[in-house]
Amino acid sequence: MTKKINAAITGVGMYVPDKVLDNKYFESIVDTNDEWIMTRTGIKERRILEQGATSDLAAGAIKNLLETTGTDPEEIDLIIVATVTPDMFFPATACLVQNKVGAKNAWGFDLSAACSGFLFALDTGSKFIEAGTHKKVIVVGADKMSSIVDYTDRNTCILFGDAGSAVLLEPNEDLNFGLQNSILKVDGSGSEALHMKAGGSAMPSSHETIDNKYHYIYQDGKAVFKVAVKGMADVSVEILEKNNLTGDDIAWLVPHQANLRIIDATAKRMGLPKERVTINIDKYGNTTAATIPLCLTEYYRDGKIKKGDKLVLAAFGGGFTWGARYLVWSMD
Ligand code: UT7
Repeated sequence: MTKKINAAITGVGMYVPDKVLDNKYFESIVDTNDEWIMTRTGIKERRILEQGATSDLAAGAIKNLLETTGTDPEEIDLIIVATVTPDMFFPATACLVQNKVGAKNAWGFDLSAACSGFLFALDTGSKFIEAGTHKKVIVVGADKMSSIVDYTDRNTCILFGDAGSAVLLEPNEDLNFGLQNSILKVDGSGSEALHMKAGGSAMPSSHETIDNKYHYIYQDGKAVFKVAVKGMADVSVEILEKNNLTGDDIAWLVPHQANLRIIDATAKRMGLPKERVTINIDKYGNTTAATIPLCLTEYYRDGKIKKGDKLVLAAFGGGFTWGARYLVWSMD
């Protein structure tokens, strides 16, 4: 009989571009101010990729992961890229990333679930490990949000940044550690509130779509906020209940970084103090699929996430898509 295995995160990596846009910069381009941005979102600054594309953010993160774990790129079996800003419609960004990192033996694909992309891809990647068919799977969240942001729209331009961050999944035999279970959801009736109108088959690019600024993110912030704050808190409580846990058991809530107020509300519903919530929205803003692995990477490298820590990962985003994942950290 084959032994039951699960998947565990055995490596992390990140790449953030050097160029910083702080709140002062936005005061100079739109009618806003540092105080509004800080109190309404918690964002101080974000990173912008001046040269290159999403595949460079993803490849940067993977190279960082491979270096720090001493992994040969040729050992990688599969690369899943979670993104809503692919380099192009096709080929998939995963193909471009595979080539850039020299993962000669890997296949790969892109997964589109907006801000929940990393959670959806983590779930997908773990299935290939659990099936016993793949030994090393890389899940990378990467988004060059600056490529779809309208820098004349104060409602959205202050929110987003560019980044890539990756995890390595490998088989794990001690089932007390590693990825345990998740709850993932979609509700396509929410697509009106958060989307990019043009460029797809519904509205192919034309002079008119460009004139109408339909190639940028559209977000009804207030409407999304209302469902996000409830959706992320509800699913985070649901994952606790599913695992017979309370907030006291959880070492870290690792939430998607869209708005500090949504994060605070989720932590409160779970009964978690601020000290047990990973936060880096102040430094990077909303980097869509990259926020959760960026938090994992930074908090692990700072020695804050430790072996045996029980973690809840949670996200809400465009689609609508949302979900939560329970895992026990297995790296020393
Ligand atoms: O990550 C994917 C999922 N997305 C989210 O989770 C985002 C959810 N939404 C949000 O985080 C918030 O709704 C925002 C941060 C986007 C906006 O915050 P809000 O408190 O919901 O503001 P609002 O949209 O209700 O706008 C309040 C006021 C408006 O002015 P009036 O109509 O009251 O005069 C806006 O025009 O704030 C104004 N405003 C701004 N003022 C200064 C909007 N953006 C800005 C700005 N600076 N950058």
